[in-house]
Amino acid sequence: MQRQFTFPASFQESITKALASYKLSLQDSKALAKCVLALSDYFIHKPEDVTPWHESWAQVAYLCYYLPLNSTRLAGIIEEADKRNFFAGLERVVDFGAGLATASLSISQKHALQFHLVERASEPQKIIETYFPQFKAEEWQRTFSAPRLKDPKKTLAVFSYSLTELSDIPDWAYQCEALMLVEPSTQQDGRKLLQLRQKLLENGYHVWAPCTHEGPCPLLTQSKHDWCHDRVHFQAPEWFLKMEEQLPMKNRTLTMSYLLMRKTRPEVITAARVVGDRLEEKGKDRQMICRGPEREFLAWMHKLKIQQEIPRGVLIKNPTEVQKVSNELRVSKEVEVLD
Ligand SMILES: C[S@@+](CC[C@H](N)C(=O)[O-])C[C@H]1O[C@@H](n2cnc3c(N)ncnc32)[C@H](O)[C@@H]1O
Repeated sequence: MQRQFTFPASFQESITKALASYKLSLQDSKALAKCVLALSDYFIHKPEDVTPWHESWAQVAYLCYYLPLNSTRLAGIIEEADKRNFFAGLERVVDFGAGLATASLSISQKHALQFHLVERASEPQKIIETYFPQFKAEEWQRTFSAPRLKDPKKTLAVFSYSLTELSDIPDWAYQCEALMLVEPSTQQDGRKLLQLRQKLLENGYHVWAPCTHEGPCPLLTQSKHDWCHDRVHFQAPEWFLKMEEQLPMKNRTLTMSYLLMRKTRPEVITAARVVGDRLEEKGKDRQMICRGPEREFLAWMHKLKIQQEIPRGVLIKNPTEVQKVSNELRVSKEVEVLD
């Protein structure tokens, strides 16, 4: 069992139309890969610089690579959000550092909300308005220094790969009922997000996902190296695979770190989150789970012949009939994955 995701067919139609304006098609694997490499090199050499949206190669790279990948990651997060009814009662989204509206487009696939996009560059707005007519933003804004929040109690502030340079969310976002924070799943960004989680808890927010508890994060407090991250399997279309053949980076699975928080309390659940991949060890399999401040592993001995593949990132029923050995919860039967 795997968590498989892709991006919607309507995005691909829009990407095709947009690429035609650069005299490119999805079949131009080499030319597309060249643009992706140029943007990837740019970020490697100038990590502090902003996305060079004025360059056509950066626009092409975003359209054919970062938009498909990030919207697939977001589809995985939105599915987990929906399992907890995270969007209930929300009416507006403020998508900060929206880029090609990646997060708003992804949320709009499932939830009819009003989208207010904040993006410093003007090019993404032009691309979205021209080639993604199915998506209607209520407003685009270049900066969000002075709060113009219409109804913060019904607003979700989204930071999708736009928090990287900030150590905290901006002041206006603290007025919002709900927060969706998505960060690259690097050790540095992931641990920074866990620190921010603590600060947001102290400031009246409750965590809806991935955590099922509000205690200290065991990955932060009981390890110097761990960071919480999720993984989804990417069902890439043929043209993407062909383009990827020209690239050093492969994307069969995609990882991301995220936090979903609201001022309203979530419904209490007796569940644990699977926060690790299965590790095969001598005589047993182990997989890290999170259900409280302890850093814990589910473990099942090979001699019990339990055949289970639990996808990283899902919720499981809190294992009760277990034998606790150090940080291991040894189970004697398959665990129940929650829908
Ligand atoms: C890494 S991109 C992420 C784009 C998109 N959210 C996604 O998930 O793919 C970060 C975006 O934030 C924008 N940005 C950075 N700082 C900003 C600011 N202070 N105000 C508005 N936009 C900003 C950049 O122009 C860039 O498009």
